[in-house]
Amino acid sequence: MRDVQRVAIVDPSDATREALRNVLLGVESIWLEAECARYEFFLEVISQSVPDVAVVSLDSDQAKALQLIAQLTSDLPEVPILAISARGDGQAILQALRNGAREFLTVPIVLEDLLKALQRLQRVRPGGEKGSNGESQAKVESLVIAVLGSRGGVGCTSLAVNLGATLAQDAHHTAALIDLDLALGDADVALDLMADYTLADVALNIDRLDLQFLRRSLSKHESGLSLLPHPVQMEDASLIREDHLQRVIGLLRASYTHLVLDLSKSFSPTDATALRMADLILLVAQLDLTSLRNVVRMMATLTATDGVADKVQIVLNRVGSETDISLTKAEETIGKPIYWQIPNEPKPLMESRNLGKPLLLYAPKCKVQQSIAGLAEAVCGRQLQPAAKEKSNRWGTLFSRR
Ligand SMILES: Nc1ncnc2c1ncn2[C@@H]1O[C@H](COP(=O)(O)OP(=O)(O)OP(=O)(O)O)[C@@H](O)[C@H]1O
Ligand SMILES: [Mg+2]
Repeated sequence: MRDVQRVAIVDPSDATREALRNVLLGVESIWLEAECARYEFFLEVISQSVPDVAVVSLDSDQAKALQLIAQLTSDLPEVPILAISARGDGQAILQALRNGAREFLTVPIVLEDLLKALQRLQRVRPGGEKGSNGESQAKVESLVIAVLGSRGGVGCTSLAVNLGATLAQDAHHTAALIDLDLALGDADVALDLMADYTLADVALNIDRLDLQFLRRSLSKHESGLSLLPHPVQMEDASLIREDHLQRVIGLLRASYTHLVLDLSKSFSPTDATALRMADLILLVAQLDLTSLRNVVRMMATLTATDGVADKVQIVLNRVGSETDISLTKAEETIGKPIYWQIPNEPKPLMESRNLGKPLLLYAPKCKVQQSIAGLAEAVCGRQLQPAAKEKSNRWGTLFSRR
């Protein structure tokens, strides 16, 4: 669970504004809410979005900047102000602080100093969070769930798509799925979505990513789940770098309550980034030798990366299919308890995949969907509250084979 700080900046100088923008864009916990090139317009701009922090550069016109700080302090006292200047003019700094700025930083900005200042401003934020319309709302929180497989075909995409659709059904959730199986992923097939944009488009435009662009880049499924698919052309998979993904996850985390990441089976650098950024890793296994041996190998590798192994929970898929390996033997081998068991039920899984419909819409009463609904509640730590009960019942009556 993370906090995102929405920051607005005003700086009439294109050069210094650009430099500041680039520093801010590199911080995953920051959402750049607005950029303004005129001191005169800044109050109006931020009166609408009410950011968590307003950054005012003093250098283009010190008198106007100081006057703006005083005006912001009186008109929007809930928005803390960070003043910045390259001049090191003691009088101006003092005046900025007297006029209401809470923090001051010297340009060029050192990232660590910026982070510390933003942290301090967060701590003094009065009376809870504000939404973009200025009304109080719940803290912006997100849960990033990585779905990792222990061999090919173990059930990751089935779990990622159906868990994502189930999470999206809750009235309080906004859920998105990112297909990180960059070459061969099929989350778009499982949801029967022809997306206009893919992860490659987002990566190529990473420097000018904003909330609107990002929202437009995701395709929304009728279940409520949004999807950011893998690139259409296989060769475009190489366009997506770790820093791109880090930024995309950081930003999506700001606008969705739940992010599900369907990882590849290649332990690629982007997979490693996803594992590092995830709050929870569901490692999918089955009761066969290859899968269990790989779980042991993967846990050894994940343990080597700080904090990653602690986030792993084992999900055993296709329980009940023919095997001579017992659950107890599996737990003994892995050295970790099984967190969740999903039953073997090939028919609805195969049919729903072929139709491109999540189980929630195709066979809501089937055993696998019931199990995934339980898993969704377990990861959320509470009972889900479906927003579109009527719709899912109707689909259930019309199409359920169970
Ligand atoms: N619980 C289940 N019961 C029966 N069949 C299942 C179950 N889960 C998945 N399957 C089937 O197993 C096959 C592989 O599933 P899926 O594509 O989700 O795995 P994957 O790990 O994403 O595969 P890949 O390695 O290709 O990415 C599919 O045909 C799916 O219908
Ligand atoms: Mg898959």
